Amino acid sequence: MTQPNVSRRKFIKIGAITIVASGVMCCGGGLLVTKRKSPATPVATPSFTFGKSSSATKQILVAYATRTGSTVGVAQAIGEVLGSRGFAVDVKPFLEDPDPGEYQAILLGSAVNGAQWLPEALEYSERWSSSLNQVPLALFCVHIMNLGEEEGEKQNRLAYLNPVRALLPSAEEAFFAGQGLMPEEQSMLVVWACRALQLFPEGDCRDWEKIRSWGKQVLHTI
Ligand SMILES: Cc1cc2nc3c(=O)[nH]c(=O)nc-3n(C[C@H](O)[C@H](O)[C@H](O)COP(=O)(O)O)c2cc1C
Repeated sequence: MTQPNVSRRKFIKIGAITIVASGVMCCGGGLLVTKRKSPATPVATPSFTFGKSSSATKQILVAYATRTGSTVGVAQAIGEVLGSRGFAVDVKPFLEDPDPGEYQAILLGSAVNGAQWLPEALEYSERWSSSLNQVPLALFCVHIMNLGEEEGEKQNRLAYLNPVRALLPSAEEAFFAGQGLMPEEQSMLVVWACRALQLFPEGDCRDWEKIRSWGKQVLHTI
């Protein structure tokens, strides 16, 4: 019988990649933030206001959820652009539970963990769904996998919003690249595995031009 042309070294390498890959897949993006050092302090969830000093008549809410901080900057940039469009904008974390009744249009955004929005974003969307469905609404995801234009990736990306879309079916949607593998915060094994498998891009992948240009045209009829 012909033996496959695989050296022992190559065989071990393939086996190791497969084992680590299974671990990475099972843990999802969780390995992205497995720090070498002890856990850091919880990430800050600040609020911002934009456009309040102008003659703005419409109040807009940008509510966000984050775990590692990158969605804060995305929400802030979108709020800033909306402020420059002449709206009075509050950017707030879902944890503050902003009342949707105070706003004429609302944008909700969350980091994606485990292929869906963070729990506080889902919980808010469900609890306030009847009020949210009465105003112009837009949703955004900040994530790191399924960023490509290949059909499977697009479908996976769209599926992140399935639970929210079921509650808020008329909302506009956007997907933004967030924070990828941070090599300085990971064990060598994780860095090696992620690089070998090319599972995630590295570093801060936020595309500020894309984020701001969405802010310029989102909910353009309000
Ligand atoms: C525990 C965990 C799970 C993740 N799961 C996914 C995922 O299923 N799909 C994806 O595209 N990105 C996933 N990511 C990547 C994050 O969505 C990405 O790093 C994002 O920028 C995080 O936003 P934040 O910094 O505001 O928390 C995950 C990250 C973590 C830490």
